[in-house]
Amino acid sequence: MSQSLEALDKRFLFHPSSNLDQVRDKDPLIWTRGEGVYVYDQHGKQYLEGMAGLWCTALGYGEKELAKAAAEQVETFSYGPLFAARANEPSIRLAAKLSEWVPIEGARFLFGCSGSDANDTQIKLARYYFNAIGKPEKKKIISRTGGYHGTTLATAGLTGLPPFHAHFDVPGPDIVHLTEPHHYRQAHEGESEEDFATRLAEEMEQAIAREGADTIAAFIAEPLMGAGGLILPPKTYFDKIQPILCEHGILFIDDEVVTAFGRTGNPFGCQTYGIQPATMTMAKALSSAYQPISAVAIPPFMYEAIEQASIGVGMFAHGLTYSGHPVAAAVALRTLELYEERGIMEHAAKMGEMLQSKLSGLSDHPLVGNYRGIGLIAGLELVKDPANKTRFDPSDKIAFKATAACLEEGLVVRALPGDTIAICPPLIIDEAGIDELVSKLTIGLDRTLDAL
Ligand SMILES: Cc1ncc(COP(=O)(O)O)c(C=O)c1O
Repeated sequence: MSQSLEALDKRFLFHPSSNLDQVRDKDPLIWTRGEGVYVYDQHGKQYLEGMAGLWCTALGYGEKELAKAAAEQVETFSYGPLFAARANEPSIRLAAKLSEWVPIEGARFLFGCSGSDANDTQIKLARYYFNAIGKPEKKKIISRTGGYHGTTLATAGLTGLPPFHAHFDVPGPDIVHLTEPHHYRQAHEGESEEDFATRLAEEMEQAIAREGADTIAAFIAEPLMGAGGLILPPKTYFDKIQPILCEHGILFIDDEVVTAFGRTGNPFGCQTYGIQPATMTMAKALSSAYQPISAVAIPPFMYEAIEQASIGVGMFAHGLTYSGHPVAAAVALRTLELYEERGIMEHAAKMGEMLQSKLSGLSDHPLVGNYRGIGLIAGLELVKDPANKTRFDPSDKIAFKATAACLEEGLVVRALPGDTIAICPPLIIDEAGIDELVSKLTIGLDRTLDAL
């Protein structure tokens, strides 16, 4: 007798980043198809994808141009490695196309399969570079509490969220976490965003003095924190910390896995927040999630030092079987072309303003303590008492209840740490889609409130 998909899932699948008692006790929601900004479950129910999957399906679902690009590349040449100085056409063209987009002069691009492996690569390249230039003591990476940079052994340590550390024995050595730049939660009573940013910059200076500048290789940051709770940097934050990094020869690794390609109203989050990165990590919207692919952008001064040192070793010994996979690269290249041909960056900027103006009305909702958003990304922090920011008891599982109520309404949003509901629709969403999103979210929050 054949078993249901639900039964097979519960018996055989190990769900990543999931609540495993929920996996055990509840039937899974199984996505079966998608079209535009909508996805459908195993019962045929339609949902507006208000989270673009995991912040990634920028062009929505069922994009025929990307299906065509993948199919053509599979038929022409399905796999050819970049190891041993070989190449394939899509990865060469993708690197060249990315150089037109990425605001790092003269950058080269090293491809991977996920944001996690790309950030892992970033750590390795920072070490390689400093070893190459005769500063082998420079090893430590400064990260922030609340930051999310992946789940490999090294990047889970950069990630500043306790569940990603517990039982995994991370962070390992050489990782320093600073305070999350979360004004609503971390600022002192009456402290302005600017003053809070000054205090964070002082904290960074103190950490550098304590650890020793000559032991610190890099600082890694998302322009805005996604998975850690949708935390926007306080005003002047990056202006204040960048000179400190510069002064101490600390590289700025710009983790744009969520923010790259239009999410914050500019092509890159670094442009929105005035960041001048040394290096950059991209994934997700790079292929609109139609293929697993990531990219690390490296400036010439790092590449040249790495090139020299690797010649001494005999090879640059880092890479993945699928670095520059031709099908993934062909799909990513076509994705970037579609962004250009269809004016997706401009559309996303316009829709972002609309989303912000319509969604920010929810900051007055009795469940909402703090609204945070920019472009096509936003978070609503749910609290018991907005007047004094009192949190719900974790056992109330308020954010999970709210996301469940939204699901009932046919809207996918996500519960983040700190009882924040995240919204991050595909960039192709239009005004009608935004109205539907705001209306369903409002109903979901009202139902959650009524059920308390
Ligand atoms: C900012 C950031 N960096 C890195 C990652 C890790 O990417 P991946 O899940 O593709 O490994 C994520 C994933 O959400 C992310 O949000």
